[in-house]
Amino acid sequence: MRIVICDDAAAATRTAVDRIAAALRARPASVLGLATGGTMEPVYEGLIAAHRDGLSFAQAVSFNLDEYVGLPPGHPQSYRSYMQRHLFDHVDIAPERTFVPSGEGDPQAASDAYEAALRAHGPLDLQLLGLGHNGHIGFNEPGSSLASRTREKLLTRTTREANARFFKEGETPPRSAVTMGIGTILEARSILVLALGAGKAAAVQGTVEGPVTAMCPGSALQMHPDVTMIVDSAAAADLS
Ligand code: F6R
Repeated sequence: MRIVICDDAAAATRTAVDRIAAALRARPASVLGLATGGTMEPVYEGLIAAHRDGLSFAQAVSFNLDEYVGLPPGHPQSYRSYMQRHLFDHVDIAPERTFVPSGEGDPQAASDAYEAALRAHGPLDLQLLGLGHNGHIGFNEPGSSLASRTREKLLTRTTREANARFFKEGETPPRSAVTMGIGTILEARSILVLALGAGKAAAVQGTVEGPVTAMCPGSALQMHPDVTMIVDSAAAADLS
């Protein structure tokens, strides 16, 4: 795993944006694995700026990591609507080339359909990942099988608490999500992880230096031959 430590969050974000843009320039028909969450918002702002400067998404295909179970695509907190708001509505990617798991209907059927779509278009050329405070990648919470495939996963209390900030007061954040599995993620040709801030320091340490364990799902990335983790100095603080 290559670790890139940047002075601050802005520099780390810029580094991530530059790498994604370079990958897309080198291979315009890239199959991109995308993430949501607070860390990714400025990344997508950077990609939109790159698009205004000529970067095209027209030949790319994208697959998002996860979607909340029970939220229709039009719900403001669904990950489909996050992606529309933060990226897809502002770049030249055709809607039919953007895949987000379905949060509606039977989660098992949605998961199987997603794996089939990944098989049809994949492998992913570049998978972008954030990192949960508890070391989760996608919504593979601690205890997830390192060989897991796309499936419904119950969210831990800490993840629900962390994500509650995105929901309106009185609204209950979903209890589960359909997420690409760790085994699914590891099939990407190349993986880029972005983790920022002191709150991620323990998860970064476990991911990079800890034993490979289902209790820190990020640590499974140690088994992949092409992972780059970009962190700011606060997130790198626990690395030896
Ligand atoms: C989102 C996802 C999650 C987030 C992680 C970090 O699609 O899969 O693993 O990347 O929870 O979220 P933030 O960036 O909000 O700290």
